[in-house]
Amino acid sequence: MNPEQMLPRRSLLLGAGAAGGTALTLSACSGPDSDAAATSDAAASSVPAGTPVQVGKVSGVKVGGTATGKVNGKAVVIFRPDEKTVLAYDAACTHAGCPVAPAGGDFECPCHGSSFKGSDGSVIQGPARAPLAKLKAAIDGEWITVTA
Ligand code: FES
Repeated sequence: MNPEQMLPRRSLLLGAGAAGGTALTLSACSGPDSDAAATSDAAASSVPAGTPVQVGKVSGVKVGGTATGKVNGKAVVIFRPDEKTVLAYDAACTHAGCPVAPAGGDFECPCHGSSFKGSDGSVIQGPARAPLAKLKAAIDGEWITVTA
């Protein structure tokens, strides 16, 4: 069973401040005892490349859990290895580009069955041979930010 959950929707302001917003949805897969936390939606406009974007609340991803989100229209996947750390990867499967999805503490590709470790993005099972592309992620207060 895959206990992926959609998290409640909330508006957010960008960490960069004033002028923009971005439409983001964080959905989490945190294991069998997962409970919902946060989803972020706001006015849709992109931010400059390299700008950290709030993708959802830290409380929305349990330790050992995974989630998905979007940054500037790009699908990203998130893994939370411990209380103080989050990791993020480009969700594009390195086999043929399908978006991978949370599967417990890892990610699975629905197209041809590749799977990747949440802890480092490496391939667990092919046909993909290269790891997921790592992105910069951080915890900023109660928010997870990702730079894509
Ligand atoms: Fe992911 Fe083929 S696109 S396994």
